[in-house]
Amino acid sequence: MAAQFSSSERRVIMVILALALFFPLTCAGRMGISRQKLEVQKHLKRLNKPAVKTIKSPDGDIIDCVHVSHQPAFDHPFLQNHTVQIRPSYHPEGIFDENKVSAKPKQRSKSITQLWHLNGRCPEGTIPIRRTKKDDILRASSVKRYGRKKHRTIPKPRSADPDLINESGHQHAIAYVEGDKYYGAKATINVWEPKIQQSNEFSLSQLWILGGSFGEDLNSIEAGWQVSPDLYGDNNTRLFTYWTSDAYQATGCYNLLCSGFIQINSEIAMGASIFPVSGYRGSQYDISILVWKDPKEGHWWMQFGNDYVLGYWPSFLFSYLADSASMIEWGGEVVNSQPDGQHTSTQMGSGHFPEEGFSKSSYFRNIQIVDGSNNLRAPKGIGTFTEQSNCYDVQNGNNGDWGNYFYYGGPGKNPNCP
Ligand SMILES: *[C@@H]1O[C@H](CO)[C@@H](O)[C@H](O)[C@H]1NC(C)=O
Ligand SMILES: *[C@@H]1O[C@H](CO)[C@@H](O)[C@H](O)[C@H]1NC(C)=O
Ligand SMILES: *[C@@H]1O[C@H](CO)[C@@H](O)[C@H](O)[C@H]1NC(C)=O
Repeated sequence: MAAQFSSSERRVIMVILALALFFPLTCAGRMGISRQKLEVQKHLKRLNKPAVKTIKSPDGDIIDCVHVSHQPAFDHPFLQNHTVQIRPSYHPEGIFDENKVSAKPKQRSKSITQLWHLNGRCPEGTIPIRRTKKDDILRASSVKRYGRKKHRTIPKPRSADPDLINESGHQHAIAYVEGDKYYGAKATINVWEPKIQQSNEFSLSQLWILGGSFGEDLNSIEAGWQVSPDLYGDNNTRLFTYWTSDAYQATGCYNLLCSGFIQINSEIAMGASIFPVSGYRGSQYDISILVWKDPKEGHWWMQFGNDYVLGYWPSFLFSYLADSASMIEWGGEVVNSQPDGQHTSTQMGSGHFPEEGFSKSSYFRNIQIVDGSNNLRAPKGIGTFTEQSNCYDVQNGNNGDWGNYFYYGGPGKNPNCP
């Protein structure tokens, strides 16, 4: 039965109904938003430490020069009383005669730096930290996920379960060694700016120092360059590191985005843009990365180029890697999210296949491992691996100038990789 209301009464009832229905919704919505805002602000305060000096990079980054003893590492409960080691007790390059290799390079590559250096340097006693902005965190799926990895993505050569390889859509083209105890690795990596099709995808080139099995407690230290619009908000090529002690589940993060890595270097900022990058048939630029275990303290140290010892991961962060690594991998990785149901056109390396060779394809050269007597050596029994060689491929070789090297990468989507 229809109720008997006048038109003005009906209007009043409608307004009351509308308020009753929507007021709680808007309130709850606002409360949700402000709770998230608060959480983001708290996280920003945790990550961004007070700066002694601030430098604006041409790419929009803000670099904070933070006193060494105020860096994020010291938020870690185990590091509360830690005395920063200002240098490693041991360096494997003492034995390796680098000059013999670089004295007569047939194919010269040029020196490389970070873009923010154009606008200033950090004073002694501080370390440069890329400031995290509100938008950086808002691009992550949650505050907690910011700076972490979404999926387990360690390339697993000769996997017994091919579905597992393809599961998360991550594709690799790598060289690797396993079956021994390794105490470090080195490579000189050609730097490019691969095109990324969608912002939830990335392209990177790195080395992996792995300890343990491919189960839930895999330990990993990773370093190289990456293009990751989700993580950084642009398509620039950036220097990065990553670590985890439980196969990306709870521990670890990129760069200095959680406590763990202790940086001592005042010149290189993790996550900052590398400049310049290589051009197709143009000038080639490469970076050297060395990661090694200090035999005395057990910490894993990292060096960038020939001059910059960046800092170290304390050995207590790890289980297996507290002893040694069981596998080393070098190479590229991209995320294929299969936009439009087709293979992504996100590039790996230069976006060109290995066959094209120098100045067209991307490379790793002078790849080495640190052996049981803490010497840098040519790796023995190098294997290569790629999920779909029609999309991204890898080809290794050996010569006097480049030692053990490989070309790798590709365009992703193409007639042979639909
Ligand atoms: C740090 O030192 C203080 C005072 O000596 C001590 O109470 C605390 O347990 C130490 N913390 C750690 C993690 O060793
Ligand atoms: C991954 O998936 C692609 C396309 O479904 C397939 O062609 C390829 O063989 C798979 N790779 C492996 C190693 O299983
Ligand atoms: C990154 O590149 C993609 C295309 O590859 C483009 O659509 C996007 O706008 C770029 N993002 C930025 C922040 O420049």
